[in-house]
Amino acid sequence: MSNTVIVGAQWGDEGKGKIIDFLAKKVDAVVRFQGGSNAGHTVVVNNEKFIFHLIPSGILHPGKKCIIGNGVVVDPKVLIAEIEDLKSRGIKVDDLYLSSQAHIVMPYHMEIERLEEEQRGEGKIGTTKRGIGPAYTDKIARRGIRVADLLERETLTQKLKINLEFLKNFYGLNLPLKNALEEYLQYGRKLKRYITDTSMLVYELMREGKNVLFEGAQGTLLDVDHGTYPYVTSSNPTAGGVCTGVGIGPTRIDKVLGVAKAYVTRVGEGPFPTEIKGEIGEILKNRGKEYGSTTGRPRRCGWFDGVVLRYAVRINGLDELILTKLDVLDTLDKIKICVAYKYKHQVIREFPSQPRIWQECEPIYEEMEGWKEDTSKVTRSKDLPWKAKKYLKKIEDEGGVPIHLLSVGPQRGDLLVLD
Ligand code: GDP
Ligand code: IMO
Ligand code: MG
Repeated sequence: MSNTVIVGAQWGDEGKGKIIDFLAKKVDAVVRFQGGSNAGHTVVVNNEKFIFHLIPSGILHPGKKCIIGNGVVVDPKVLIAEIEDLKSRGIKVDDLYLSSQAHIVMPYHMEIERLEEEQRGEGKIGTTKRGIGPAYTDKIARRGIRVADLLERETLTQKLKINLEFLKNFYGLNLPLKNALEEYLQYGRKLKRYITDTSMLVYELMREGKNVLFEGAQGTLLDVDHGTYPYVTSSNPTAGGVCTGVGIGPTRIDKVLGVAKAYVTRVGEGPFPTEIKGEIGEILKNRGKEYGSTTGRPRRCGWFDGVVLRYAVRINGLDELILTKLDVLDTLDKIKICVAYKYKHQVIREFPSQPRIWQECEPIYEEMEGWKEDTSKVTRSKDLPWKAKKYLKKIEDEGGVPIHLLSVGPQRGDLLVLD
């Protein structure tokens, strides 16, 4: 396998964790490049469930380097808890590497986020409350605390002072320096053995001809530049985010794969043209167990959106698609797929850049026959019901990309390579 990027092609939770776990066995390293503990990536092995928030989803394969790049925002408390949890379940966490340049999520980021969401009122984003937005804000505002700072008392003291002063003046928050200082220095000591220059590490791996998998969190439509702004996350989950989020050049990437669900879900607020409000939405939610891996919130469900897929193909330069959760559609009589949007008598095939259209457009659907058969036990593509094959072909035609892998269940082995 070559150096490959995996991104979410919709609004997150497409099943990236399961796919990364599957592909990890063929590579030497798995690298997270953006996001933080807003991510919840699920891997199920022999009915045992793992949910990864910060640690790359390749960690269950011994000997694979798992790297947290500079583009990630790290809550050290969450990371340490994740390491401890894995160890207590018998998983070795020796090959973990954490960028010294990654930014730290502080407790005050969560507090700021709470205040901001409160102030937005009806227009709230519905964030995961993990402090992600404010942490990235501090990074861009050049007052962020970085992983390496946790190793230097003097630097951390100085940076904390600046930040606490800022919080007092702008938010009226009075936080004590002493407690935070000692607590975060302690996290630094616990994480020290993992901290390194991860850009150099990835560069060396690539120079040795090793294969690297880049693990996207969130999804294309949650990208801060290309998503349904402002109802997005605060990073670039699209393929372009890899270069800045790891510190490698674009010429080092060989392949970009997108993961999409056989329908669409979204957690939190914001436009969702193909959302189903009614019985079928409930069926998808229940059969797909559509509850957030990080927050437990019910996910909004909708029909597959070909306009969104075409957009994901364009923005990420997708070479191939990986489709998940086909089995969830097994019981439906009819399945709809959105091929275009209608807005004021206009038919729109490409994802529009104007928020008004996302909010007010009407999806144009093509209806297909459901296959009404259990696909969850299928292991060879030729054994798929022909109506399911027709549905897959329709998705490929809409996106203009081939489906390479098909997932038909949550377990590690519930996966088919499509010819
Ligand atoms: P991620 O954030 O993209 O890694 O996705 P999540 O882990 O948040 O959500 C995907 C959910 O679907 C998890 O509960 C997975 O165990 C589950 N899942 C993944 N693939 C399949 C599949 O093909 N069929 C079914 N039924 N569940 C799946
Ligand atoms: P994975 O990696 C689905 C959503 C939140 C909210 C918006 C902003 O598991 O696919 P944030 O906390 O990032 O500031 O919230 O983004 N969101 C996700 N939705 N999956 C995720 O991650 C998400 N991470 C953030 O629900 O709408
Ligand atoms: Mg998730």
